[in-house]
Amino acid sequence: MSVIAVGSFLPPPPPYRRIKPRFTTMVSLRSDAVSVAETSSILRKLKEECATPLPVLRQVADAMSADMRAGLAAAHGLPMIPSFVEDLPTGNEKGLFYALDLGGTYFRVLRVQLGGNNERVVATDFDQVSIPPQLMSATCEELFDFIALGLAKLAAKDDGRFNLSPGKKGEIGFTFSFPVRQTSIDSGILVKWTKGFAVSGAAGRDVVACLNEAMERQGLDMRVSALVNDAVATLAGAEYWDNDVAVAIILGTGTNACYVEQIDAIPKLQGHVSSSGKMIISTEWGAFSKRLPSTEFDRAMDAASINPGEQIFEKTISGMYLGEIVRLVLLEMAATGELFGKSIPENLYTPFILGTPDLCAMQQDKSGDLQGVGSLLYDKARVESTFSARKTVLEVCDTIVKRGGSLAGAGIVAILQKMEEDSKGVIFGKRTVVAIDGGLYENYPQYRTYMQDSVKELIGSEKSNNLVIEHSKDGSGIGAALLAATNSMYKHDF
Ligand code: BGC
Repeated sequence: MSVIAVGSFLPPPPPYRRIKPRFTTMVSLRSDAVSVAETSSILRKLKEECATPLPVLRQVADAMSADMRAGLAAAHGLPMIPSFVEDLPTGNEKGLFYALDLGGTYFRVLRVQLGGNNERVVATDFDQVSIPPQLMSATCEELFDFIALGLAKLAAKDDGRFNLSPGKKGEIGFTFSFPVRQTSIDSGILVKWTKGFAVSGAAGRDVVACLNEAMERQGLDMRVSALVNDAVATLAGAEYWDNDVAVAIILGTGTNACYVEQIDAIPKLQGHVSSSGKMIISTEWGAFSKRLPSTEFDRAMDAASINPGEQIFEKTISGMYLGEIVRLVLLEMAATGELFGKSIPENLYTPFILGTPDLCAMQQDKSGDLQGVGSLLYDKARVESTFSARKTVLEVCDTIVKRGGSLAGAGIVAILQKMEEDSKGVIFGKRTVVAIDGGLYENYPQYRTYMQDSVKELIGSEKSNNLVIEHSKDGSGIGAALLAATNSMYKHDF
């Protein structure tokens, strides 16, 4: 079996604590029959606790819709962050724009030459680098110097396809995919880090000011015209090509969702004047925590994380965590059920030794003897496995991935039903597109299927006929550049 390249939801190696299984001392006293029974009983309990039958999905969707409303009104419920994106790109935008994208496994810098209505995207060029793990716990200056240096390198590349009109400053759309309290389209305060980032001195600061200072240190005279979340940038990028896009979702290392909201349905923005009457709201649904099926393994993983008690929906459904939950289940099965023989494979103690891409690769193994599963377990964790152990490993993966995908589907329905309730018929009565980006969605077929099945189960096949769930590949890069153009200080020239 070939291991599929599933880059963008690789978990970074964060500073997690090592979790010991509970009953390690009794292992050698058991008979084989007792051990097998114990593994089966852990699996049975896991399946029961992770189950997502329709009533559970419905409760999750309803609770999330209610939390969305609460968040739009005040400071409880979901964060429901106003993005200050009130106008989406029209297609008339012209000129050279840059996009920076920081938020998951990679840092990307992109430039786009826009040619206006007939020509649209004339040329694009980008650089992408993995974020060095040490940068995730560096200082604010170090992180932003790294970003500004990446931008400087791309801007310096000579390429006849990209032209900035004389006398104009380069403008940037900055995709910063962490919870930010936006104060305007081009400023926002970092509320907290997620996804294993723990950069010091940044929380509580305006991230655009941090970037401006770093650009100054690089001698770069450019301007951030739009600060956006990756979900927001994805929505803008997808809507540029298809006006029916109303919702965008990120399912990658982390997760988030955003949608187009009516200004008068956002009580916490009372008094805000908007020409379009609309604004994209970034739900930060990763922070949702109600009615979610949860197990002792989820609680152990959360307790060992750098943000215990936070981002529970994200920790249940997103790419950074699925592999880690499976590792904890296998560790317990190895310890109390001798899943991999009399001793516990030492490497299974290492946090994040199994990534979500590994689960994905194992689930694609169609060989009769599950050779691919065996090799991957050995390569990654030095685990020797029997055929029956491999089958158990696959059942564990499927249980965790099914729960994640199904709950992601319930989240999508939560947003659609909230929009539908406020605007009878506008969502389910016509074609509505949900644009999704992120490595987990893109590369994990089983996850995608579970997600789609859950949406269909919840809304029924008639309404599903009007709903299009589509992949918007790297839409967030172009989307951020487009939003820089929409908010350009030179837009009267378009
Ligand atoms: C962040 C969101 C982001 C999402 C996807 C989450 O951890 O809080 O702001 O959109 O990851 O990258």
